Amino acid sequence: MHTTILVTGATGTVGREVVKQLSMLDGDIRVRAGVHSIIKGENLKRLPGVEIVEMDFEDPDSLHAAFTHVDKVFLITPFAADQIQMAKTLVDEAREAGVKHIVKLSVIGADAEPGLALGRWHREIEKYIENSGFSYTFLRPTSFMQNYINYNADSIKKEGRFYGATGEGKVGWVDARDIAAVGVEALTNDDHIGKAYDITGGEALSNYEVAQLMGEVTGKPVNYVDVPDEAAKKGMTDHGVPGFMADAMIEVYREYRAGKSNETTDTVERVAGRKPHTMRQFLQDHKECFV
Ligand SMILES: NC(=O)c1ccc[n+]([C@@H]2O[C@H](COP(=O)([O-])OP(=O)(O)OC[C@H]3O[C@@H](n4cnc5c(N)ncnc54)[C@H](OP(=O)(O)O)[C@@H]3O)[C@@H](O)[C@H]2O)c1
Repeated sequence: MHTTILVTGATGTVGREVVKQLSMLDGDIRVRAGVHSIIKGENLKRLPGVEIVEMDFEDPDSLHAAFTHVDKVFLITPFAADQIQMAKTLVDEAREAGVKHIVKLSVIGADAEPGLALGRWHREIEKYIENSGFSYTFLRPTSFMQNYINYNADSIKKEGRFYGATGEGKVGWVDARDIAAVGVEALTNDDHIGKAYDITGGEALSNYEVAQLMGEVTGKPVNYVDVPDEAAKKGMTDHGVPGFMADAMIEVYREYRAGKSNETTDTVERVAGRKPHTMRQFLQDHKECFV
């Protein structure tokens, strides 16, 4: 009997890695990559055992086909204003379709009380899953190393610097490939049912230290420029981030600045059976993004 696994947000930072890693497994697994746009999903279609299906989280009618005959779901929703409603719609659809297990991409600190806004939004979705009768695994990663590609690469390439409001605060940045590895394990091994995993890399680094490493790896100096919260918020809103979401990010940066996110966990090694990527490895593997 084969198992069909639906990955939502499959063209995103974590989703595409989950699809890729699932496609490399032996065993009778069918991977369904849920994509917002078929064109963006073309690369995934070439992977063995992978089919792509179009989904719009804001259009419940588009979801029915995607969930048909699905056994397990890797649930990713974007960081967006209506993310809670999107996730609840997906969970409802999963229940209707008879899905057995949901692995949800959440965020570190989702269980903290009172916690931060970002964590509380994810926790609301986690609770909805818990109360919907699924077996589940929650992945709670810290900030992704890939954020440097997604949000900072432009200014690094053009100006040799990137901006932030995290001061000297150190963070246990995690590589999305390692989050995916933990996720694949959670999707394929029942030992992880009912667990919530805090996921970090193996070392905590400040943005100043990351800039130094970028310079060493690329051979061109890179500087980190620390800016006041208001300037950081303006930078985000100028790039189209809604104000309340920018505020939520500033709240996270304050935690970083205060040194409250400098702990690391051994989840990647314990669950995926290998050491997490270091920041230096990540930068070497994606060097072309920064020069
Ligand atoms: N970045 C971090 O450091 C960090 C840390 C911890 C937790 N998280 C959490 O990780 C999650 C985001 O994961 P990610 O960074 O891998 O995602 P991402 O790269 O932002 O990608 C989001 C995915 O969702 C798709 N999508 C967006 N709107 C959609 C819609 N209406 N219908 C269907 N698909 C839609 C996107 O497709 P299109 O691009 O085609 O729209 C894309 O495939 C968020 O919940 C965030 O809170 C992030």
